[in-house]
Amino acid sequence: MEPVKIAEDIYWVGVVDWNIRDFHGYSTYLGTTYNAYLVLDDKITLIDTVKSNFADELLSNISRIIDPKRIDIVISNHTEMDHSGGLLRVMHRIGEEKPIYCSKMGYKHLPMHFRKDLNYQVVKDGEQLSIGKRTFTFLETRMLHWPDSMFTYLGEEKILFSSDAFGQHYGGSERFDDEVGDDIMPHAKKYFANILLLYSPLILKLIKRVQEMGLSFNMICPDHGIIWRKDPMKIINAYATWSEQRPTRKALVVYDTMWHSTQLMAEAICDGLVQEGVKTFCMDLRAWHRSDIITELLDAGALIVGSPTLNNGLFPTVSDFLTYMKGLKPKNKIGAAFGSYGWSGEAVKLINQELESAKIRLIHEGIRVQFVPDEDALKRCIELGKRIAKELPEQ
Ligand code: FEO
Repeated sequence: MEPVKIAEDIYWVGVVDWNIRDFHGYSTYLGTTYNAYLVLDDKITLIDTVKSNFADELLSNISRIIDPKRIDIVISNHTEMDHSGGLLRVMHRIGEEKPIYCSKMGYKHLPMHFRKDLNYQVVKDGEQLSIGKRTFTFLETRMLHWPDSMFTYLGEEKILFSSDAFGQHYGGSERFDDEVGDDIMPHAKKYFANILLLYSPLILKLIKRVQEMGLSFNMICPDHGIIWRKDPMKIINAYATWSEQRPTRKALVVYDTMWHSTQLMAEAICDGLVQEGVKTFCMDLRAWHRSDIITELLDAGALIVGSPTLNNGLFPTVSDFLTYMKGLKPKNKIGAAFGSYGWSGEAVKLINQELESAKIRLIHEGIRVQFVPDEDALKRCIELGKRIAKELPEQ
């Protein structure tokens, strides 16, 4: 993709990764972008780079505007390799003596990625850097979502270069929110749920801090997806809402099945939920990607998990999902477990342990069925769905 002018003397010079479908375990059905930005001033500045295999494309984009050797400084808002993988290649081209501005933790982490001495310059939280007519202000955003993460704010134009925050894995030809419209919001929501959910308390604090600092934004430029220029507050307000993780009258029944017994139980639990007016998702783990389930979990009030017992343990897809879900630390959920078994039947107990360790409040001891559920067992599953419905907030 060609570079795009986003403001006077400021360009998007990133790349579109059209065909990536798995971003470290997150399904990216529409690919993604690695955004980098070029600011032309007395000191020409490059903000972030791209994944290593796109470094030449980044340099080619920059070359359409200026000779890359004219870049004076690089700002690294984030160490993760989708934004720093191209750094060595870029520095080799522009001159390895040029300064790379990064946070204190970036200063620690970048050399551990490249095993090479470069001219890293630490910037403190709130520190400013003049590049001529413009001044950058650096804001540490530690653990949003890595220890090194920071924002770079351009006061004159009121542009926030927000690193991963406010991004979306959306690899389209559009560069701005107004070109995509509301269709971008499910991608932003999925990104939040799968990348930032566990840092929700920090996000609420950050939004408060930005408000107290009186910062306003004409544009928010994340490192993935589209740039927010029509209504930057839309994504900030969405982050504030998502971070609160208020439960709604919505339930996910997530399961895998070997011989359809656990599936029959899942469907009966869903019947009970639906009969009580709960928005319900019946999610077979072999049909739903874990990252799509987490997106739906964001505003759900209940998570009910089912697994057959396989070799005295959980079915592997269920273990995978529970591990992924626990790491993201969803809040304010109730839960329950179910599953069929042949002779030992440990799965329900194991799911209960996992849900409890994820601080999901169990509202039932769980339902176990040996081999195939009979009518009575399916009635108990329907009743479990109804009981969960009673515990969920009214619409
Ligand atoms: Fe897009 Fe944390 O990297």
